[in-house]
Amino acid sequence: MKTDNARELRVLVLGCGRISERHFEAIREHPHLTLVGVADELYERSRAAGERMGVPAFASFREMLAETEANIAVICTPSGLHPRHGIVAAGHGLHVVCEKPMATRLEEADALVRACDEAGVQLFVVKQNRLNPGIQLLKRAIEKDRFGRVYLANTTVRWNRPQSYYDLAPWRGTWEFDGGALMNQASHYVDMIQWLVGPVESVIAKTATLGRRIESEDTGVAILRFRNGAIGTIEVTMLAFPKNMEGSIAVLGEKGTVKVGGTALNRIEHWEFAEYDDDDREAEALRSAPNPLSVYGSGHLAYYENVVRVLRGEASADTDGREGRKSLELILGIYESARTGREVSLPLRTFSREGQLT
Ligand SMILES: NC(=O)c1ccc[n+]([C@@H]2O[C@H](COP(=O)([O-])OP(=O)(O)OC[C@H]3O[C@@H](n4cnc5c(N)ncnc54)[C@H](O)[C@@H]3O)[C@@H](O)[C@H]2O)c1
Repeated sequence: MKTDNARELRVLVLGCGRISERHFEAIREHPHLTLVGVADELYERSRAAGERMGVPAFASFREMLAETEANIAVICTPSGLHPRHGIVAAGHGLHVVCEKPMATRLEEADALVRACDEAGVQLFVVKQNRLNPGIQLLKRAIEKDRFGRVYLANTTVRWNRPQSYYDLAPWRGTWEFDGGALMNQASHYVDMIQWLVGPVESVIAKTATLGRRIESEDTGVAILRFRNGAIGTIEVTMLAFPKNMEGSIAVLGEKGTVKVGGTALNRIEHWEFAEYDDDDREAEALRSAPNPLSVYGSGHLAYYENVVRVLRGEASADTDGREGRKSLELILGIYESARTGREVSLPLRTFSREGQLT
């Protein structure tokens, strides 16, 4: 049961579309968070959300900022708008929880990071799948050096997104506001491979738009060279017939092999190491984990737990802006290689102190 005095962090949500529901649920469940306002440029959406959640609803961010007092702004608008909305929030002294990807351009991501630095507020980029139990175990196995040398890593996302999904909103599938399968639907997976095995030194990629009427790609493949010498592959499609088939990551090393799969990185499919560790028992239990009801998984509440602990001075951020920038840079490197037909070296550019929003 929440008590008023424990609910000290007051939260605004901007953008009341599909993902906002996960935020509303998590904020409702968390003992230290209170939702105090919602806004959407489609007022009927924010009004419906506001009525359901019992909070005031607004038709614009500025109106909501003027009328409410809050500590945190959660940005759930189309990806290409995250930087400008995050910058407005930071300008009002609010901590920013930004849905992934944090931007569709690197200079805009840098401008967001800089604005939050300058305002002295925290920037969190939502990467809830990093918190999946099987992924946490895999990360721990890598940190304990259980694999020895890592040779090969793969992430595969074979999902189905029908044309009707892209037609839900005009921003979907556009370069400016969304990007394609790698930037949107598979961005957690690209993040995961670079987080677990990275940093990435170079990438060579092919992408294609084969089955959907969108600007960006519905399918793509990339070959990675990691700085530690390992080779990696990323395979992504939104055209799997007839439904979502797999969302997995595999790491193969000198002394261990692991694959975490299911439809969304929820189930351990293979777990084998030369030497025993107590984590092996936990891994065994995750072999039969049920698939989550949606591919978004159920990590938003766990993600907010970190947000709250950071803001209470008890932890450092799981994924802050600089961490969120890494996968964005890799995705943009993949796009550049696909566009030019050349191998692309990372980093694409160093952190920009001057970049402007375009
Ligand atoms: N973490 C995850 O697993 C996950 C899952 C799905 C989506 N997302 C991300 O969340 C973001 C939103 O995705 P979605 O599927 O909810 O999209 P959506 O289209 O369902 O919702 C976006 C909402 O933002 C509103 N909006 C657009 N411009 C606005 C503005 N200027 N001011 C106020 N409201 C505005 C739209 O009216 C819409 O209601 C995307 O960046 C997406 O990548 C993350």
